[in-house]
Amino acid sequence: MTEPKRYTITAALPYANGPLHIGHLAGCFLPADIYVRYLRAKGQEVIFVCGTDEHGVPITIKAKSEGKTPQEVVDFYHRQMADAFKTFGISFDIFSRTSNKVHHETASDFFKVLYDKGVFKEDITEQYYDEDAKQFLADRYITGTCPRCSFDKAYGDQCENCGSTLNPSDLINPRSTLSGNKPVLRETKNWYLPLDKIQAEFLNDFIESKKHWRSTVYGQCKSWLNEGLKPRAMTRDLDWGVPVPITEAVGKVLYVWFDAPIGYISATKELKRADWEKWWMDEETKLVHFIGKDNIVFHCIIFPAMMHEYGGYIMPTDVPANEFLNLEGQKISTSRNHAIWLHEYLADFPDRQDELRYVLSSIAPETKDSDFTWKDYQARVNNELGAILGNLVNRILVLSQKYFNGIVQPHADYKRDPRFDWKELERTINIIEQLTENYQFREAQNELMNIARMGNKLLAETEPWHLIKTDEKAVGEILNLSLQLLMQFAKTAEPFLPNTAARILKMLNAEALDELPANHQLGEPAILFKKIEDEEIDKQLKKLNSSKEAPPHASLVPQKEEITYEDFARMDIRVGTILEAVKVPKADKLLQLTIDTGLDKRTVVSGIAEYFNPNLIVGKQVCILANLAPRKLRGIVSQGMILMAETPDGNLEFVSPVAAILAGAIVK
Ligand code: 2FM
Ligand code: ZN
Repeated sequence: MTEPKRYTITAALPYANGPLHIGHLAGCFLPADIYVRYLRAKGQEVIFVCGTDEHGVPITIKAKSEGKTPQEVVDFYHRQMADAFKTFGISFDIFSRTSNKVHHETASDFFKVLYDKGVFKEDITEQYYDEDAKQFLADRYITGTCPRCSFDKAYGDQCENCGSTLNPSDLINPRSTLSGNKPVLRETKNWYLPLDKIQAEFLNDFIESKKHWRSTVYGQCKSWLNEGLKPRAMTRDLDWGVPVPITEAVGKVLYVWFDAPIGYISATKELKRADWEKWWMDEETKLVHFIGKDNIVFHCIIFPAMMHEYGGYIMPTDVPANEFLNLEGQKISTSRNHAIWLHEYLADFPDRQDELRYVLSSIAPETKDSDFTWKDYQARVNNELGAILGNLVNRILVLSQKYFNGIVQPHADYKRDPRFDWKELERTINIIEQLTENYQFREAQNELMNIARMGNKLLAETEPWHLIKTDEKAVGEILNLSLQLLMQFAKTAEPFLPNTAARILKMLNAEALDELPANHQLGEPAILFKKIEDEEIDKQLKKLNSSKEAPPHASLVPQKEEITYEDFARMDIRVGTILEAVKVPKADKLLQLTIDTGLDKRTVVSGIAEYFNPNLIVGKQVCILANLAPRKLRGIVSQGMILMAETPDGNLEFVSPVAAILAGAIVK
C-alpha cells in the first residue's frame, strides 16, 4: 500500500465474563493504544474501535452459576472493563458492545447476505440434546468421566484435570449440566462456512502475500493452511446470541466467532454513522487488528474469508499478534486466580498506571512468551523510571527554580550547543518512530529511555551545580538545553506514558508549546514516580499465593475404584534418566524427551513444556510407566509416560527417587 489515507485500528473484543488482567493489557490493548496515540500525534486520521464480546457459551454458564441473566453478567463486566481501560488511558474512540441493536442488525445482515449469495453449506449432524431442558447442549454443558484420566467432572470439550481436548462423544457416562440427566443424540442442521473452498479460491494467495507479518503470525496461518481448512459451523443451537435471520433456523444463534469480529464494523457504524464505509471498504484505509496469539486464526483466516465472501471489504494490512504473558513463571489462569486483575492493581497502586504500562511494554511478549514478576516490576519502576527519568526531570526543574526562579534562560542556538549532540537525539526520535510503525514497541520504549539517559549524561558532564559558582550564563544555557530535551522527551513519550508526558509538560508549563522560549515561566516541580517499597511487593506476592483455589484434583477428585495387586503389578514403572529434552515445534505444551530406562533409550512425548525449561531437566531422574502402549503425538511416537505430581498451586513436579539410583530400577 502507498501511504494510507486513514487507519482503522481494532483491539480484540474481550469476553464480558470476567475482569481484565495484565495479560490482556500486555497482549493487545497497550500495544494498540501506543500505536494509535502515535498515529494521532502524527496528525493521521485514525479510529480506534473496541467493545465487549458479549455472546458465547461461557457467558451463559457464568450467568447460571451466579443465578443471574447473561445480560446482567455482561452489563456488569462491560462497565468494569470500560472503567479499567479508561483509567489506564486506553484511548478507544468507541468501546461498544455486541449485545446492542446496531451490532445485532449488522451481524444479522452480514449473515443474510452470505446466505442469499449461497455461500453457506448446510449440514445435519448429531448433537447431544437435553430432553428435560428441551435444548441442545453446547460442549461445556456436558460433563462426564474423562476417558484418559478418569476425572469425573470433565467437560465435553476438555478435561481440566489432565488437559486433554475432548469431544462430547468421548465422555464416559455423559450428563447434562442443566438437568443432570443423560443427554440423547439428536439431529440438527447448521450452516457452515466452506473454508476449504475459500482456502483454494482466496486464502492461500492472501496469506502468501503476508510474508512480512510477524513470523509467529504468518507461521501459524501457514500451518492452518497446510493442514487444510475444513468447513466450520457459523450457527449454534443456543439461546444467547444474535438470532440466525432465516426462518429455518429458529432457536439458533450465530456462532460467537462469526459475530464478534463484525463487532468492529458495528462499532465503526456507531461512531461514524454516515461514512462508516470508508473505514472498511476504501483501499486507501489501512486496517490493523491487535490481538493475542489465540485469536490468530479468527482474524487472519476466518474473518477475512467472511469479508471476502461478502465482497467490498478491505483486508487487514497487519495483524501484530502478541504471544502470551506469564506471571511469576506460570501461565496466567483466571480459574485458578493466578492473575493480576487490573481493577485490583488500580486499587492497590492508585495513580500508578504508567508504571504498569512501562513495565508491560518493557517485557512485551512480541516475539515469544514473556514473564511478569513483581520483583522485576519493582526493579524497573525504581531503577529505570525513578532513577533515570524521575531523577532527571526533578534535577532539571529544581535547578531551574533554585538558580533562575523557574524562568527559562536564553540560548542562542540550543540545537548546536557543543556540550550536547542534538542530532543524536533527533536520530533517536526517528528510530523510535520507525520501531513504532513496525509494531516493535518494546524496543521503541527502550530507545525512549535513551533520551532520558542523554539528559542525565549532559548534567553529569557539565555539573551545573559546580559551574554556577563561576559561569551563571553557561548554566542558564545548559538548563535551557535540558528543558528543551525534556519537551522532546514528553512529546515522544506520550504514546507510551501518557500521564507522565502530561505531568512533565505541566511542570514545564508548556502543554501547548513546541519549544520553550527564553523568559518562559516554568511550572512547579513534582515527584514523578514514588518508590515501590519491598513491603508492597511482598504483599502482592502473598496475595498471589494465598488466593489460589485448590486444583481440581486436590479434594474434589474422589478416590478411583478399587483395583487388585495384580492390576497394579501389570504396570511396569521404572526409574529413568532424562538424556535429552527439546520442545516439540508448534506445540506449546509438549516436550520430546529421550529417556534412558535401563532397558533402552526411548522417546517420550510429555505435556510438560509449560512447566519446565528443557535445558534444565537434562540429567534428572524420573519415574516412567514403561509398558504403556505407544501413542503418536504430533507425529512423534511416544513410548511411555513420565509420572508427575501436581502441587497445590497447579504446578507440576517430577516424581523422582530421593537418592540417585541407577536407571532401570523397578518401582514396586
Ligand atoms: O478471545 C477473546 O477474548 C475474544 N472475545 C476475542 C474476540 S476478538 C473479535 F473478533 F471480536
Ligand atoms: Zn482427563
